[in-house]
Amino acid sequence: FRTLDGVAVAGKRVLVRADLNVPVRDGKITDLTRIERLTPTIRELSEKGARVVVTSHFERPKGKRVPEMSLAPIAVALGEVLGRKVRFAEDCVGLPAQQAVETLHDGDVVVLENTRFHPGEEKNDPAFAAELAKLADLYVNDAFSAAHRAHASTEGVARLLPSYAGRLMQAELEALGSALGNPVRPVAAIVGGAKVSTKLDLLGNLVSKVDVLVIGGAMANTFLAAQGIGVGKSLQEADLHATALEILGKAKAAGCEVVLPVDAVVATEFRPNPPTQTVPVDAVPADAMILDVGPATVAKLQERLAGVKTLVWNGPLGAFETPPFDTATVALARAVAARTEAGALRSVAGGGDTVSALRHAGVTEKISYISTAGGAFLEWMEGKTLPGVAALEG
Ligand code: 3PG
Repeated sequence: FRTLDGVAVAGKRVLVRADLNVPVRDGKITDLTRIERLTPTIRELSEKGARVVVTSHFERPKGKRVPEMSLAPIAVALGEVLGRKVRFAEDCVGLPAQQAVETLHDGDVVVLENTRFHPGEEKNDPAFAAELAKLADLYVNDAFSAAHRAHASTEGVARLLPSYAGRLMQAELEALGSALGNPVRPVAAIVGGAKVSTKLDLLGNLVSKVDVLVIGGAMANTFLAAQGIGVGKSLQEADLHATALEILGKAKAAGCEVVLPVDAVVATEFRPNPPTQTVPVDAVPADAMILDVGPATVAKLQERLAGVKTLVWNGPLGAFETPPFDTATVALARAVAARTEAGALRSVAGGGDTVSALRHAGVTEKISYISTAGGAFLEWMEGKTLPGVAALEG
């Protein structure tokens, strides 16, 4: 892919595809990370004299104008983070967009209204992509987190204008490439979360890429149960036992060591701070649920990860949002952070839950790279080609 290095942008209209799809609760942005991570690209373009036209989707309005899903308040937040005036255009195509772009001076920034107000966006309608392309001389995609969508603003328009990766896109691709594409070995992955069914392709891809695969979270229950271990009332997917065994077989054939929990923290009710018990995985009471991996598992993981040079992490080890089932995830996160800080490990993490868990453990600053992507991070871990990235390369 082409980066912004050496690209002459002064006086040019540059369409920047950002991902301004930030979490909002009660009308307030609850996490500014995506906006903050976008600013290097906007600042660089603006300082070099480009006329910066920012475009993004926000939530899922399904091709209709939904006032609650306007990007107007997000444009204000972008201005605050940048510490400069950011204009706003009431539509991302047509007259409002054209007029907004025509009146820009070199260095100015405008945010265009939600692309998903138009059905052509998600359909990747060539006519809609052409409308977007009309607004600019160059296209910069800085939305790795939306690159798994083949939409007009992420894919179609990239084929109509000279296209470049923005600084955030570049950082994501470089970090992810160094973690799975061409990693320093041994390389390990930690995969957690609730369901095997949502991460089948991911597990299938990882076993042929990593040396060690740690499986945690409720999805580990499916693997344990598949091996005939009683998991009581734990969340698990009984219809995926055969698939789980297949994955284990594939791992073995590929020389990938799969590490499963050896002990578990169990409770009979799922609520904050219920009475708990710590038991070996083969001694889970019939009326109990596994809600976290136990201390022996954490010790085993630390020991197993001690010689590992590269680590990719997606998914918590336990039900970390409900105390005390955050214990193992927090302990492991701190161990990973300490080894990263000591220069012994390159650690890359992504996915909404994983990032909140790392934040909860207070270690986000110490992880080598934290992706801004959720779904795109998963698809990348699955080994899929992301259409938004492919369009930049084509
Ligand atoms: C995300 O938040 O993962 C991206 O912005 C993509 O959003 P989407 O799942 O609505 O396409």
